[in-house]
Amino acid sequence: MFTSKILKNTANHFKNVPAYLHNTGPRSLTALPKLMGQEYDAPSMKTNCPGPKSKELLTRYEKTNRNIGHVQFFVDLEASRGNYVVDVDGNRMLDLFTQISSLPLGYNHPAILEAMQDPSNLVTIANRPALGVHLPNGYTEKLEEIMMPIAPKGLDYVQTMMCGSCSNENAVKQVFLWYRRTKRGGAEVTQEEMDTCMVNEAPGSPQYTFMSFNGSFHGRTVGCLSLTHSKMIHKLDVPAMDWPMAPFPSLKYPLDMHTAENRAEEDRCLAEVQRLIDEYGEKGRDVAGMIVEPIQAEGGDNHATPYFFQGLRNICTQNGVGMIVDEVQTGGGCTGTIFACDQWGLDNPPDLVTFSKKLAMAGYFYKKEFTPDMGYRVFNTWMGEPSKMILLEAILKTITQENLLENVKVTGKVILDGLNELQDAYPHVFSKARGNGTFIALDCVDNQKATLISSLLKNEGVNLGLCGSRTLRFRPALIFKPFHAEILLDALDKVAKDMN
Ligand SMILES: Cc1ncc(COP(=O)(O)O)c(C=O)c1O
Repeated sequence: MFTSKILKNTANHFKNVPAYLHNTGPRSLTALPKLMGQEYDAPSMKTNCPGPKSKELLTRYEKTNRNIGHVQFFVDLEASRGNYVVDVDGNRMLDLFTQISSLPLGYNHPAILEAMQDPSNLVTIANRPALGVHLPNGYTEKLEEIMMPIAPKGLDYVQTMMCGSCSNENAVKQVFLWYRRTKRGGAEVTQEEMDTCMVNEAPGSPQYTFMSFNGSFHGRTVGCLSLTHSKMIHKLDVPAMDWPMAPFPSLKYPLDMHTAENRAEEDRCLAEVQRLIDEYGEKGRDVAGMIVEPIQAEGGDNHATPYFFQGLRNICTQNGVGMIVDEVQTGGGCTGTIFACDQWGLDNPPDLVTFSKKLAMAGYFYKKEFTPDMGYRVFNTWMGEPSKMILLEAILKTITQENLLENVKVTGKVILDGLNELQDAYPHVFSKARGNGTFIALDCVDNQKATLISSLLKNEGVNLGLCGSRTLRFRPALIFKPFHAEILLDALDKVAKDMN
């Protein structure tokens, strides 16, 4: 059994586990209320994953949806709970993928189930409003009481949306609107602008550009795709804009042991950002905005330091470029703060910060000057979903009540220390353990090994995802405790032992 030195020192964490995480072994529960208050002891595998039932369901699913190349297994949501996902074959896995990093409290958390069963929430769940035109009574109060307290410092407004991609799409659009308005300097929109925008021509459709970074991921919708550079599979065959792509720092880990080299690399990238802004400006293709992730997630968990982000902020300010921070994956507490950008010590915050996933509701916070100048400029039917606000309220209350941001820091350290030990023990298998909170990654020697290790881990009862070309990504729920980390490290140790 792999026993990390750190784990030996954290036995006292067992004492602080909330009642619903006390382990009482598997149960056969059917009704939702009975799900409350329990988690499993350990993984339990009955078949390989995917098992026969998952495979059978996949064949059936294909009769209604042919787009199935990415389906991994079918989930028994009723049986899943806490940090354990249970598949339809009865395999119970410790879940470090958490529905692509989007389950802050794991499965069937009592606070979420209670909120869903609260009769006073019924009308909100039952009647989905078109938020752009007919806001339900009480929504404004919810925005004030639930959303605004988590806003990154200095961002006083919020626009809710439906998902990460549409948050980014609309945030980018809002920056273009701001940029054009600023350039117009108060002048009226001309007839020529109104006419030319209708046929996709300048000046109505200006030749402005948007900067992103190599390795970035901002979504797969057509607009976002021009800002996404993580994998060929997302982009192939889709026309893309000629927009500048700057280098994202390629740093050495652990960051604090390579400060001088990393600083030089970040300076190189910052210089390139400025050079590209100048180059595109000279071509008459102004860079109106920039979008950046605090940690490039899908692109392979690439980190940068606060120094880099401070540098980006300064360049944006000096060049009149709008700055969007995409916290779709980093937001929601997994780095130890609700938003990672709050850790950068910026004097002037980013102009917009987008979110989704762990926060249940999607959207973006923004500064006043980025407000669209007219109604219907940023608009769609739903513009968010009030029932997700019910989830968010339960999530945020639980984060506070259970001190989950602190838990993330403690558990994150246990995982990372354990991974460092494993990479020392198996240097031919693992390298570059890195992370912030429980947003953690570990490289494998190549893509083949990473794929193999993730499938072997599944059969050991640990479900996790990959990112970049050869990286294991750890995205546990915020309720993941040091004793869950022990199970994970144990499984990794077991799998690595058999690798040559
Ligand atoms: C950083 C980032 N931005 C945007 C997105 C797109 O979000 P969605 O899948 O909700 O459209 C993702 C999804 O993984 C993401 O990680």
